[in-house]
Amino acid sequence: DKELTIAIDGWSSCGKSTLAKALAKELNYVFVDSGAMYRGAALHAMRNNLVSRNHVDINRIIASLSDVKISFKNNAKGKAELYLNGKNVEKEIRTIEVSNSVSSVAKIKEVRLFLVKQQRIMGINGGVVMDGRDIGSIVFPLAELKIFMTADPDIRAQRRYDELIAQGDKITLEEVKANLIERDEMDSTREESPLTQVDDAIVIDNSNLTPEQQLVKALALVKKIK
Ligand code: C5P
Repeated sequence: DKELTIAIDGWSSCGKSTLAKALAKELNYVFVDSGAMYRGAALHAMRNNLVSRNHVDINRIIASLSDVKISFKNNAKGKAELYLNGKNVEKEIRTIEVSNSVSSVAKIKEVRLFLVKQQRIMGINGGVVMDGRDIGSIVFPLAELKIFMTADPDIRAQRRYDELIAQGDKITLEEVKANLIERDEMDSTREESPLTQVDDAIVIDNSNLTPEQQLVKALALVKKIK
């Protein structure tokens, strides 16, 4: 069997990573959450006071990239977690503070080149499911399967809100929805590799689909190609 490259792009909080993870597990492929890498880069910039809600020090962020070492390591349960300079930052990168700053860092061309290079290496041998915003367009334009995920914004906000509340965050549904809308706007209108639905992507609207139903759909798409 040929090892495929599978690209999953789409709007924020659409369940891209959930599907990518399930698909990778089923196919015994590597799963890469590219958004986590941007979140790691944003966290590093935040810790050095180079980005906040209304300020981004582009030049110093670029200069500090040589100090940013991003990697993934599986935890005891086999779940991939993000490491920044050798420290597990999986929890920290999911906070609303990082969510509110990440798009300002992700729009910087040099940040993207820095991370895209690493992402391409992770997928160099195929057998990878990567989710993000520019995977089918920029990172793996030759991916055999490209999925574009979308869902109703209210449903997305509610899902993300439930997730954050479950992990103990103090946050309102309105804050979560505002963040999704703002990120979608920034990610789809930026100059450098904006979020777009490429022509050869297959759309999955999962507003009314369970994770299991999405996996079934995705596996059917894989079967067609293999
Ligand atoms: O996927 P996730 O929502 O965690 O991504 C966080 C942010 O990282 C996105 O809102 C976007 O700004 C950026 N991102 C990106 N390109 C990717 C993945 C994520 O610009 N491939």
